[in-house]
Amino acid sequence: MVYFAGMYTSADEKRLYDQAKQLLLNDAGSASDTILLLREAINYADWKYYVQSDPVLADKEYDDLYKKLKHLEDQYPEQVTADSPTQRVAMGLSERFPAVSHLVPMLSLENTYNAEDLTDWDRKCRELAETDELTYCVEPKYDGASVSLVYDDGNLVRGATRGDGVMGEDVTINVKQIKAIPLSAPLLQYGIRQVEIRGEIVIHKKVFETYNKQRIADGQPPLANPRNAASGTLRILDPSEVRKRGLNAILYSISDYTLADGAVRPDVLKTHYGSLQWLYSMGFPAPAREMKVFKTIDEVIAYCADFELRRDDLPFEVDGLVIKVNDYALQDRMGMTSHHPRWAVAYKFKARQATSKLLRVEFQVGRVGSITPVAKIEPVPIGGVTVSSVSLFNEDVIREKDLRIGDTVLVERAGDVIPYIVKPLTELRTGDEQPIVYPTHCPACASLLERLPDEAAWRCININCPVQVAERIIHFASKDAMDIRSLGAANVQKFHDLGLLPDIPGIYHIDWERVKGMDGFGEKSVTNLQQAIEQSKGQPLYRVIFGLGIRHVGETTAKTLASAVVHLTDFYSWNIEQLSALQDIGPKVAQSVVDFFARDENKRMIELLQTAGVNLINDHRGQRPADGALAGKTFLFTGTLSHFKRSDAEAMVEAKGGAILGGVSSKLNYLIVGEDAGSKLEKAKKLGSVNILTEVEFLDLIGS
Ligand code: IVH
Repeated sequence: MVYFAGMYTSADEKRLYDQAKQLLLNDAGSASDTILLLREAINYADWKYYVQSDPVLADKEYDDLYKKLKHLEDQYPEQVTADSPTQRVAMGLSERFPAVSHLVPMLSLENTYNAEDLTDWDRKCRELAETDELTYCVEPKYDGASVSLVYDDGNLVRGATRGDGVMGEDVTINVKQIKAIPLSAPLLQYGIRQVEIRGEIVIHKKVFETYNKQRIADGQPPLANPRNAASGTLRILDPSEVRKRGLNAILYSISDYTLADGAVRPDVLKTHYGSLQWLYSMGFPAPAREMKVFKTIDEVIAYCADFELRRDDLPFEVDGLVIKVNDYALQDRMGMTSHHPRWAVAYKFKARQATSKLLRVEFQVGRVGSITPVAKIEPVPIGGVTVSSVSLFNEDVIREKDLRIGDTVLVERAGDVIPYIVKPLTELRTGDEQPIVYPTHCPACASLLERLPDEAAWRCININCPVQVAERIIHFASKDAMDIRSLGAANVQKFHDLGLLPDIPGIYHIDWERVKGMDGFGEKSVTNLQQAIEQSKGQPLYRVIFGLGIRHVGETTAKTLASAVVHLTDFYSWNIEQLSALQDIGPKVAQSVVDFFARDENKRMIELLQTAGVNLINDHRGQRPADGALAGKTFLFTGTLSHFKRSDAEAMVEAKGGAILGGVSSKLNYLIVGEDAGSKLEKAKKLGSVNILTEVEFLDLIGS
């Protein structure tokens, strides 16, 4: 059956959605009526999911409908028709890339949700395999976009999306941008002429976060979640954009292979575990270290429960685990349905999506005056946390999603990723929904808002706006800036509201007598606070610079700036050219620094800080001693570090007299690589002059 976008009218959509929900609760009259309605509802849900990438049902709801249909068709086999959703793999294709057929259909997985489901599945497995001697291989279920890779004579010749399971889209050019995927491998050495490998295209949570931060800074709306980012990116028409997104891949099965003439099947290709370890050994990104083999389903169940608690520790989003019968010969004996293999099952973790109602939108003012819309929704539990506030980022996001007050919205909270609104369920609209009106004036100080042509955020440009001032003080006192313990956001806000803390220099002139009379401020807590403030006066210059909250100046840039001057006020006479000559400082940052130091109110603030006794001198405190063990040596960290925090490691290097560089160049002596190191590692290898160290080698080097 071929479907086209727009085949359902919105009235159809509403009817079919209600029909699906209704069928979850009750059958419709006769079995034959129920079968017809179920097919219609499932076809609709499939179309939304596969063709429109816009799911309307939770996985569990969809599975329940499918199971119900399957159950009825089993009871009434004469009612099974060729076009029933149970009789085919899937459907729907987008046409932007050439269509290609998979060597073997890309099936789906059956889902389980609890120990009982798994025990049932285990029983069926032992029946079908006709043995009790089963071993199961368990690995994460990665939440990304599935991909099929074909290697001929050891060379990657094709990368394709899943498509409808039979035909996919040829996205070879994009797949080749993913550096985790080898362009060639020594397959022929093992007698393999052709192989089709399946896997998931994923995006590292950190990469995703950084990418989104950059998008927001550049005035573009952030991408929804790592999964959408991966599947969307795979189908971008511009490969160079794909490359920039830093996708990754995890390969989890060999679906087909052909031996070269006269070759004998390698022994590793007898089990799933062996095959993936073998792929890993050839440089493929197989989850070799994340796989576990168990002899009993009880062990599998215990592992699943334990793993679910640790799901956020992985660098990628996972939405469950996949349990596979390890022995290929048994897999073959067990076979598959048109929908899923009988030798594998997914164990799905608790949902992190929920629907709720959009009650209103509040507009918050940030430290640099940008206005962030925040949706207030009916509180709803998602993955163990109650969500009632969700950032909408900027006006464009609201417009693109066409959000309205009163909408039923689908909310997702993926791991440590902040919750966001996936979309409004427009098919549930009643007509009473109200548009979201964006303010023209600052909600805190009523100044007219401005939006620069290349920015997504509206901005309050009143430097004295009370909310901005409070946010700036909070930032100045924060851990990575002046690190004034106990002067956190709540206390700053309290003091600011009471007029005790009008601005940043005001930190050093708080009227303590008034504070002592306040609730919750005993003698001891006041003394602690006073001490912390006093100590902050001696913080190194880079912390002051970072704390000033100059736009585009993060911690690293603050360090670069601090080491370039003797006194903070030296910047009063610096121009863009001088600043741009510093490592890693581009024109945008340089302009922002010049603007900051040109403003009278900033000069006044710096003067007040100086009079209060805050250190504004670059006395190399906290920086490199000239006689340290690493004096004169330069270092750079890249990739995900698992043995220590990057900031701690950098501090260790500096404490021993070494310097941290911002990029790979001929000046770099040591590159320390964590997991998934990318372009920096490649560049260092190319240069040939850089010592490339693992984290452990680094620790050895510094004697820690
Ligand atoms: S095995 C024959 N293993 O989950 C089906 N799938 O819900 C073989 N997925 O389309 C699938 N991680 O894209 C398998 N470790 C893993 C997986 C995995 C993620 C995806 C896959 C599939 C979907 C099914």
